[in-house]
Amino acid sequence: MVSILGISAFYHDSAACLVVDGEIVAAAQEERFTRVKHDHNFPLNAARYCLSEVKLLAEQLDYVGFYDKPLLKFDRLLETYLDYAPSGFSSFLKALPLWMKEKLWMPDLIRTELGKAGGETDERAAKKLGKKFEWKLLFGDHHESHAASAFYPSPFEEAAILTIDGVGEWATSSIGVGKGNEITLLKELRFPDSLGLLYSAFTYYTGFRVNSGEYKVMGLAPYGAPKYVSIIKDKLLEIRDDGSLKMNHEYFSYSQGLRMTNGAFDKLFGGAPRKPESLITQKEMDLARSIQVITEEVMLKMTQFAHKETGMKKLCMAGGVALNCVANGRVLREVPFEDIWIQPAAGDAGGALGIALAIWHRYLGNARLSPEQSGTWQAARPAGKFASNTTQSNGRKSAGTENHLTAYADGMKGSYLGPRHSEEEIEKFLQSRNLPYKKYSREALPGVVADLLATGKIIGLHQGRMEFGPRALGGRSIIGDPRSPEMQSAMNLKIKYRESFRPFAPSVLREQVTDWFELDADSPYMLLVADVAASQRRKMTAEEEALWGIDKLNIRRSEIPAVTHVDYSARIQTVRRETNPLYWEIIEAFRQKTGCPVVVNTSFNVRGEPIVCTPEDSYRCFMRTEMDYLVLETCVLDKQERPAFVETRDWRKEFKLD
Ligand SMILES: [Fe+2]
Repeated sequence: MVSILGISAFYHDSAACLVVDGEIVAAAQEERFTRVKHDHNFPLNAARYCLSEVKLLAEQLDYVGFYDKPLLKFDRLLETYLDYAPSGFSSFLKALPLWMKEKLWMPDLIRTELGKAGGETDERAAKKLGKKFEWKLLFGDHHESHAASAFYPSPFEEAAILTIDGVGEWATSSIGVGKGNEITLLKELRFPDSLGLLYSAFTYYTGFRVNSGEYKVMGLAPYGAPKYVSIIKDKLLEIRDDGSLKMNHEYFSYSQGLRMTNGAFDKLFGGAPRKPESLITQKEMDLARSIQVITEEVMLKMTQFAHKETGMKKLCMAGGVALNCVANGRVLREVPFEDIWIQPAAGDAGGALGIALAIWHRYLGNARLSPEQSGTWQAARPAGKFASNTTQSNGRKSAGTENHLTAYADGMKGSYLGPRHSEEEIEKFLQSRNLPYKKYSREALPGVVADLLATGKIIGLHQGRMEFGPRALGGRSIIGDPRSPEMQSAMNLKIKYRESFRPFAPSVLREQVTDWFELDADSPYMLLVADVAASQRRKMTAEEEALWGIDKLNIRRSEIPAVTHVDYSARIQTVRRETNPLYWEIIEAFRQKTGCPVVVNTSFNVRGEPIVCTPEDSYRCFMRTEMDYLVLETCVLDKQERPAFVETRDWRKEFKLD
């Protein structure tokens, strides 16, 4: 048995991932355990959890992989500083102690930290055996780790690989090819020219937090007009036909300082950046739309270039920008790849998974298992299809309707790679707190939850293993009825305590996706955006059409208004029974009751809080908000029957707003 622990840390979204004999057995982000969103510290808790999943001690690991190369990163920091010196001296000085203390001494640090992962038992065992940790420590390139996370778990034998993010060591985007167990990176775009940093600059300027507010900018875009596209193209950057971009760094300050943009940028767009939490105006909406248009253009050109350059028929993507699901939807529809697959933990957390798989396949030379061999039961394929390479993914051209519902098979296990809490643990927790609950049989539960949904109740759903990556996929989700016109603002304001413009995502039965959305493919990780099907839309009146911006939000646009954005788009999660049986059965029971195979799915947390992990986190979030019911596996809690929930602190101050 060969066990490999992958780690990403010290930038944002620290995570650990355990791969045993090539199989991803566990992966989790540190924030879920420490309850600090985007926690960047060493992922000790996540590593400890991963090891516990297979009862392994840290000293029994064979390899530990770190997702990037600190020395190269330091090289970039130093060189960039020298390029711009003396400007940027203060931020350089600020960064230096951390580098001297932690990042440059990474091997020692990792050994010391991991020494704590097994707790006392581990140290005792190590002492008893009279040996030190013998595992080998390996460092991967940042974009290679992203590329490995995109290709190795994908369902493709061979594919083009595109990684796009802010910056790693030097690269900000890379194009490569994966074949069997080999990955070759062919081209890279280098810092400071970066699509990710460009998007982050606009995130900063529109008053959201860099490295976490980017998806808010994407959500705001449909309310705006692309007014600033020509200014951006004239002044800020040149987009070449191959998707590479040359930025005009007179307008940006991320190379020298801690701000993303500078006075010249402010002047160009008519004022200082919006103050976080102040009123969002039409200007921010127009800026959001404009940078989204630019991003889509660059991504389409990059993917077209990757298609031409590699000659591959399939595409895999990772890196933070691959979370831009609106752009992904366009890539799927407009670029001639037959199929695309996107790593659900596309940001830096996924680097932990990438480096672990890269060690298994590239360093150790192990072959990739085809999905048919990957140890899970697959639905039988129609005769004659077995040998062909038609594995389903979230792509579009799945060769005719007869093949559409064959098993979805990638190596991610639906991204349900985190902790699961047993019925016993849950009941023990509930009883220890004297909390009233009703326990249902597994068979009865979907019907019970569907009944509650159909009567407009909002439900916290905690079941199965926690998701790896930024999206809740029915393991730690808040769900509701998408047909209700009030659901979107009720969930935003009473449950999530967040901006009312933010749309919710639909979870839809895979079997019914084409009846409700303009999508005929799997989108298991909520990484593709497509429009609500024309047949489900409601025609707006002329007056309603004329409304603009946020005013349009309250207009009922479809049969499922809570998940339909102002431009009719939706960020879709398709659900298969084999990947998440209970979630599928709940939606199926809801369909039988209402005719609608869709539920609203939003992550189980309040604004600024990491997604819940344990039953205790779920219960706390349930009590702090106006959710009606909490489902903890088969135990159901009714808010009406709650004992008084006393809190001495103001929890709204507990989480920094994101
Ligand atoms: Fe990255």
